[in-house]
Amino acid sequence: MKPKVLVTREVFDEALAYLAEHFEVDANQGDVPLGAEQLAARLAGKAGALTTLVDRIDAALLAQCPELKAVCNIAVGFNNFDLAACTEHGVMATNTPGVLDDSTADFTWALILAAARRVGESERYLRAGQWTGWKLKQFLGTDVHHATLGILGMGRIGQKVARRAHGFDMPVIYHNSKRLPEEIERACNATYVGLDELLARADIFTVHAPYSQATHHLVGAEAFAKMKDGVVFIHASRGGVVDDAALVAALGSGKIGAAGLDVYEGEPKLNAELLKFDNVVLTPHIASSSEATRRNMAMLAAQNLVAALGGGMPPNLLNPDLGRA
Ligand code: GLV
Repeated sequence: MKPKVLVTREVFDEALAYLAEHFEVDANQGDVPLGAEQLAARLAGKAGALTTLVDRIDAALLAQCPELKAVCNIAVGFNNFDLAACTEHGVMATNTPGVLDDSTADFTWALILAAARRVGESERYLRAGQWTGWKLKQFLGTDVHHATLGILGMGRIGQKVARRAHGFDMPVIYHNSKRLPEEIERACNATYVGLDELLARADIFTVHAPYSQATHHLVGAEAFAKMKDGVVFIHASRGGVVDDAALVAALGSGKIGAAGLDVYEGEPKLNAELLKFDNVVLTPHIASSSEATRRNMAMLAAQNLVAALGGGMPPNLLNPDLGRA
């Protein structure tokens, strides 16, 4: 008999077909989000699950699912997993690093350009029928070329963002929990600086740190106060890394000149104050969402699940102690 698995949200047909070769699949193709109780009920008797970043896998849930052996996120972020609890319950946890780096970096640049050059604002104006003709001073924006790009969090995605700055002739500075090896800095054309220097020097400031207790509100009132007046602020990593109330205050005071945001605290309910600012570009957590990339993410998660339940080593195991057991 094939092991039973749950796919918690709608996925592409090829991922389902691949899973069906190996498992008896219970798929939530209706895409209705499952609350904690529904998730526990649907996981009963399942050996594995393909999960998304809204599915909380914690000790309380794991205690109700003794047959569960693997949870495979369709996301690079995994702050929805209590990794220690997964390990304690012998549940392998995996994510999808790598396949989304380029798409996410592309989208970060879409936010940078849209915010700095007022794309959202001017498009809304045109669509509203307010455009009566060309004016010299219309929608004056901030130049991206030659501006100093500051990157907070220089993992795979931060590095891809840095590489793209070359064509815009931008000096790139970064801060990271660990300084990168010299050859990577050279390839990214990026200079390591302390956090205060990063905050003080960046004309365009973009955040690419994963969310954890250690990065909760990493960018808050104190950090905004140290930024340049009129800074262009970009956030496409994970809600909670930035203190959204402090962000609203920095927008209100004019400290931030423009912002591009893809992630929020308490998604999908964002701080309603953000909607009041015309100089903010707001997108619904879609930075990795190109067709090809989202298909690749779903397939990689499925491959992780097949490897985990097949007795192999999943390519993206987050709790390697279990892989060695
Ligand atoms: C998306 O936010 C991801 O973590 O992949």
